[in-house]
Amino acid sequence: MDLRHCVIPAAGLGTRFLPATKALPKELLPVLDRPVIQWAVEEAVAAGAREMVVVISDGKELIQQHFSPQPALEQLLEQRGKVAELEAVRRSDHLASFVWVRQDRPLGLGHAVLCAAEAVGGLPFMCMLPDDLSYGPVPVLTQLIDAYSEYHTPILALKRVPREQISRYGCAAIAESHGRVHRLSAVVEKPQPQDAPSDLAIMGRYVLTPDIFDALRDTAPGTGSEIQLTDGIGALIGAGAVHGVEFTGELLDVGTPAGWLATNARLALDHPGLSAALRAAMVLVTA
Ligand code: G1P
Repeated sequence: MDLRHCVIPAAGLGTRFLPATKALPKELLPVLDRPVIQWAVEEAVAAGAREMVVVISDGKELIQQHFSPQPALEQLLEQRGKVAELEAVRRSDHLASFVWVRQDRPLGLGHAVLCAAEAVGGLPFMCMLPDDLSYGPVPVLTQLIDAYSEYHTPILALKRVPREQISRYGCAAIAESHGRVHRLSAVVEKPQPQDAPSDLAIMGRYVLTPDIFDALRDTAPGTGSEIQLTDGIGALIGAGAVHGVEFTGELLDVGTPAGWLATNARLALDHPGLSAALRAAMVLVTA
């Protein structure tokens, strides 16, 4: 398949996690032993992506450093015989190749994706928002790729949410369904519950076709006066089919202190080296 690129918008401010993100890009907050964005890159690589197109803004340069070789540190670890640590340091820049694209003004998620147009070229691509971490036996992006290989249309990750929460998300209207795969008749960004066409929220994983770039060029600012990716995708519906997959497993939000804490706890409980320490700490708390 031609799906070798994954666009990762990482230009946004981490306003839901201040003051931790005052100086540190939110994408570098650690979840267990690695930054949030490394989990995202690992998910994209597992789904077959080989080239990450990361959209950054001023102040996000530390993300680039994380995915670049660090010769002085590597030499030191080598001299000290710290083999596992050296391996961990090298892993992040050996995962994939990286293209760094700048979004110089905060004009919205659709605009951020449009900034990646040249780097992606005329190929279909994956796109993921690194604020959510995939948790479950089959990573969410892999589930979307499976659907893409059958339908060859844009594919969105969908999750049913309580009606009162739909205004936090893009929302999808269904034309017809095949099990967990739905052909969409419309998408709307952050509708009020009473106006929402369904309870299906668009989550931060997408497979997109290159016609999205022309659609985004023609997309006027929408909700929040920003150029919305949802509106660009909406413009593709009609010209061709767009599908959504009600994925299995979970996407865990790591963009707020509460979500981050819960995600760390859940992953730690599954981690052979950390589970005992977490359980011991919780016993102390509940004793
Ligand atoms: C973005 C998208 C929205 C989607 C959400 C998923 O919104 O615009 O359609 O439902 O991500 O997390 P944001 O959370 O950036 O406001």
